[in-house]
Amino acid sequence: MKKYQDHFFKKAKKDNYPARSVYKLKEMDKKFKLLDFGQNVLDLGAAPGSWSLYAADKVGVKGQVLAVDLNGPDISFPDQVTFVQGDVFDPDSEAGKRIRDKAPFDLILSDMAPKTTGVKFTDQARSFNLAMEALHVARRYLKARGGFVVKILEGPDIQELQKEIRSVFKKVKHFKPKSSRTESKEIFLVGQGFLGAMSDEP
Ligand SMILES: C[S@@+](CC[C@H](N)C(=O)[O-])C[C@H]1O[C@@H](n2cnc3c(N)ncnc32)[C@H](O)[C@@H]1O
Repeated sequence: MKKYQDHFFKKAKKDNYPARSVYKLKEMDKKFKLLDFGQNVLDLGAAPGSWSLYAADKVGVKGQVLAVDLNGPDISFPDQVTFVQGDVFDPDSEAGKRIRDKAPFDLILSDMAPKTTGVKFTDQARSFNLAMEALHVARRYLKARGGFVVKILEGPDIQELQKEIRSVFKKVKHFKPKSSRTESKEIFLVGQGFLGAMSDEP
């Protein structure tokens, strides 16, 4: 088991990515064809920077990636990436302003994770709240037919999140990457074909 985990850690180092999480996005991109040349992408919870780096490569010089995280990145990015440090959900922060300015997006990614407590119920509830907030951002700032990827810790709330996503996307799938740590309870929900902002959206 350990050997398998080490494989992705070492591979990330060799491939010059700051985190092994890049392979999760790569797997999802391969399966769902998420990223494309020229896209405008929002990456929520982007530090240390692997997903943004991969997305930058896929969208190319004509595309843009807005990367937001509470923490700073561990790397420098190509020109198509703008990294803003701050809370994704604070509309008055620089991060909140940049998100409004750069919208609408073709694809919104959220690999956000809460600080874990080790208490299963608390961690799941926090993860669910983050995922629901990310969906709220997606509903406000996605282009019609856009895509959405969100991470959540498996738990009883997952059905509710899936139902919410299903109400605003043509297709919703869940995905457990092979490159996730074996013991990890994380799962990704992928919404494709955004149907447009709901009329009750503030
Ligand atoms: C698993 S890491 C993301 C790894 C990243 N996708 C990569 O490939 O390098 C989760 C990140 O979510 C961020 N995060 C959690 N809550 C946030 C919030 N409210 N606003 C911005 N970032 C947040 C954390 O700071 C953390 O860096």
